[in-house]
Amino acid sequence: MQQSSDRSVTSRLKAFADSKPGAPSKTANPDFGLISKQLAGLIEGETDRIANLANFSALLWQELPGINWVGFYLLKGKKLVLGPFQGKPACTRIDLGAGVCGTAASMGKTVIVADVHQFPGHIACDAASKSEIVVPLIKDGRLIGVLDIDSPLIDRFDHHDQQGLEDLLQVLIPRL
Ligand code: SME
Repeated sequence: MQQSSDRSVTSRLKAFADSKPGAPSKTANPDFGLISKQLAGLIEGETDRIANLANFSALLWQELPGINWVGFYLLKGKKLVLGPFQGKPACTRIDLGAGVCGTAASMGKTVIVADVHQFPGHIACDAASKSEIVVPLIKDGRLIGVLDIDSPLIDRFDHHDQQGLEDLLQVLIPRL
C-alpha cells in the first residue's frame, strides 16, 4: 500500500514538473504497462473484431489525458472507413494518402503531427483538434486500418505515446 501511495505522489510530482506555465497541461505520461494489463483483461476470450476495437477505443478514451477523439478507420477496398470510436461524430471515408490517416496508412508508419494546421491536407473533423497521432494496424504483413487519436493541445503526442500505442496494438491485433 505504501508503495502505491508513493507512486501516486511521484506521478503527481512528475505531472507538475512536466506542466508548462500558462499552457494547458499534457499531465503525466500514461502508464502504458498498466493500460496493457487492462487491455489483456478486456479482450481475453473475445474474438469479435468490432467488440475488441470498441473496447480498445473506450479504454484509451478513459486512460489518456488531453485527447478529444480516439478511434479506428478500417481499410475497405481502397478507402479507410470509420470504425469504432469515442468522441464527436467524424468523417466516414478517407482515401489512402489523404490527411494524416491516409498518409500513415499508405506509409505503413506512425505519424505524429504536433500542429495539424501545419500538415498539408489535414482533414478537420473537429475544429478543436490541434495535434494528432495515427498508428497503422498491420496484421500478417497487411494493412487493415489505422488507430487515430486527436488532441485539443498543441504537440500532445511524443515518442513515449508512439511506443506505448504500438505496443498496445501488438496485444490487440491477434484478436482482430
Ligand atoms: N484528422 C484526420 C481525419 C480523421 S479525424 O481526425 C477523426 C486526418 O487528417 O486524417
